[in-house]
Amino acid sequence: MAVSPAEPRSPRHGESSLFEIIAGTQAYTRLQQLYTLIADVYATSDAMSESFADRYPDPEALAGELAAMHRRPGALFLVAESAGQPCGFLSVTPRMASRLRHTADLRMGVGSTLRRRGLGRQLLAGALDRLADGGVIEIVYLMVRADHDAALRLYAAAGFDRLATLQRDTRVGEQYFDGVLMRRFITALPPGADR
Ligand SMILES: CC(C)(COP(=O)(O)OP(=O)(O)OC[C@H]1O[C@@H](n2cnc3c(N)ncnc32)[C@H](O)[C@@H]1OP(=O)(O)O)[C@@H](O)C(=O)NCCC(=O)NCCS
Repeated sequence: MAVSPAEPRSPRHGESSLFEIIAGTQAYTRLQQLYTLIADVYATSDAMSESFADRYPDPEALAGELAAMHRRPGALFLVAESAGQPCGFLSVTPRMASRLRHTADLRMGVGSTLRRRGLGRQLLAGALDRLADGGVIEIVYLMVRADHDAALRLYAAAGFDRLATLQRDTRVGEQYFDGVLMRRFITALPPGADR
């Protein structure tokens, strides 16, 4: 199980000690603060494809998600904390279909007051390290809006490839936005394998 107890841990390579990255579980003790943080991420970004209220009508919905992830091999929910308070999160959700369980979808967010300080990069590096160590997830996918330069740069720098542009993928009122599908292999492909 890749989701391990919420214990503080030492920073890995490239992680600064400004933030501590821990694996969140259904027993995560600062659930209400995490809920508030995720609400802030949604409220301060128009690039999310769903509304906060739809996804997390209440903290119990978040607790339920963490509990469900805990039961899924390869799942990961990381929380970045600063001064003991959640300030960023990242989840990796394995796909459900039995033949797709080596693949997963990634989503993340950083609190609005702590952006552009390297926390997103640190969360992503921490997740990729853990996925490589876990040996369950081989391919990670994510969707990002084509006009979201910050996220596109962050993911490209972490080794995600742009696979396709999905035209008019997102609609906000009467306005359409393209989406970009990105992918990163966690395990190296065998020599000669066709990407
Ligand atoms: C996207 C997000 C996670 C980035 O997190 P962050 O902690 O601010 O990012 P970092 O400080 O680690 O930046 C890493 C790199 O990403 C890129 N980047 C991040 N913010 C950027 C910005 N505002 N403008 C341009 N590039 C940016 C840069 O390449 C940056 O490297 P650099 O600082 O050396 O130039 C954060 O802005 C966020 O949570 N946004 C709202 C939620 C969201 O959009 N989630 C992703 C949905 S796909």
